[in-house]
Amino acid sequence: MKVLLTGGEGYIGTVLGPLLLEGGHEVHVYDTGFHRVGWLYDGVTAAPQWSRLDTRLTEPRQLGGYDAVIHLADLSNDPVGELNPELTYEINHEATVRLAGLAKAAGVERFVYASSCSVYGASAGESEELSSEESPTAPITAYAKCKVRVENDLRPMADSSFTPVFLRNATAFGASPRMRFDLVVNELTAMAYLDRKLVLESDGTPWRPFVHIRDISKAAMCAMTAPAEAVRAEAFNVGDSRANYQVRDICRIIGEEIPGCEVIIGEQGGDTRNYRVDFTKINTQLPGFSCDWDVRKGVAELREIFDRIEFDSSILNSRRHRRLKQIQYLVDTGQIDEQFFWKV
Ligand SMILES: NC(=O)c1ccc[n+]([C@@H]2O[C@H](COP(=O)([O-])OP(=O)(O)OC[C@H]3O[C@@H](n4cnc5c(N)ncnc54)[C@H](O)[C@@H]3O)[C@@H](O)[C@H]2O)c1
Repeated sequence: MKVLLTGGEGYIGTVLGPLLLEGGHEVHVYDTGFHRVGWLYDGVTAAPQWSRLDTRLTEPRQLGGYDAVIHLADLSNDPVGELNPELTYEINHEATVRLAGLAKAAGVERFVYASSCSVYGASAGESEELSSEESPTAPITAYAKCKVRVENDLRPMADSSFTPVFLRNATAFGASPRMRFDLVVNELTAMAYLDRKLVLESDGTPWRPFVHIRDISKAAMCAMTAPAEAVRAEAFNVGDSRANYQVRDICRIIGEEIPGCEVIIGEQGGDTRNYRVDFTKINTQLPGFSCDWDVRKGVAELREIFDRIEFDSSILNSRRHRRLKQIQYLVDTGQIDEQFFWKV
């Protein structure tokens, strides 16, 4: 297939792009390139062609000839989204809906959208029930509200010639050449590797869902190639039954995978909210999908990369691997303007 991958220069995109190429697809990346400096290690055999393009400025001709769009381009976490919520709505919501409209008008059949389990918000915490795709959404932040708005605006666009699919990804972890250390499993693993110690003040009982970026990538490819009737206007939580972890178990797994790492878990109750998600639908209804990774395997993979690259604290704390710090830096140094457009 001929695939347009937006956001393909980011954390997930630099893993997904090469996987699409390996799968025999033709891939073109559109990305504004906020995080291109954040290269952690050389881990790709082939990279798709890249055009620097802001999704807000996409022109109709730029969608012509594609079979599918996989849309990852976003301000990609809550703190960045809160910097300027209005701008977040412009990029994450309005530009996405516009892009989908242009794709549909250009005859693109499939539109795979990277949504998030954050659409369930705190509601998941108030009961013992797992959030399924049927559960009500209750997004809290601008970032999460945009995910819900996009899904709601794209669903009515579905018809026999246009198939939007919504992948509600759990919080990602795992190694990517364009690494993020503002994600909890990645950051805790890096801290444990450097300090050989992990201290959790609270008892770490809250539940959180996590999924490896290679499984996110696999889900995107399955959603792109599945028969349209199986996925048209459907939302899928991306993960599997192993994807819900208690925070203390994450720490214990990391402690077991990082040699000589001491793990201390406190006794105080802290955050009482649980976010547990039901991943039955994707594992039973998305053809070809099952997860290949869990946190233990992802931590072992990170440890091997850290060994190879002489990982140190300057890398861990660099703006290059933290979305908020990098965006703030680009604004403060006048490289992007208040609307996050590159200055000439
Ligand atoms: N990483 C996670 O835990 C996670 C979880 C759920 C959903 N998602 C979603 O997956 C997608 C990718 O996430 P990621 O972790 O790879 O994020 P990322 O920040 O690493 O990548 C996002 C990319 O989008 C680009 N981008 C941002 N604004 C743009 C614009 N206006 N025009 C063109 N390009 C633009 C950035 O330059 C960046 O390369 C996002 O939509 C995110 O919301 C991620």
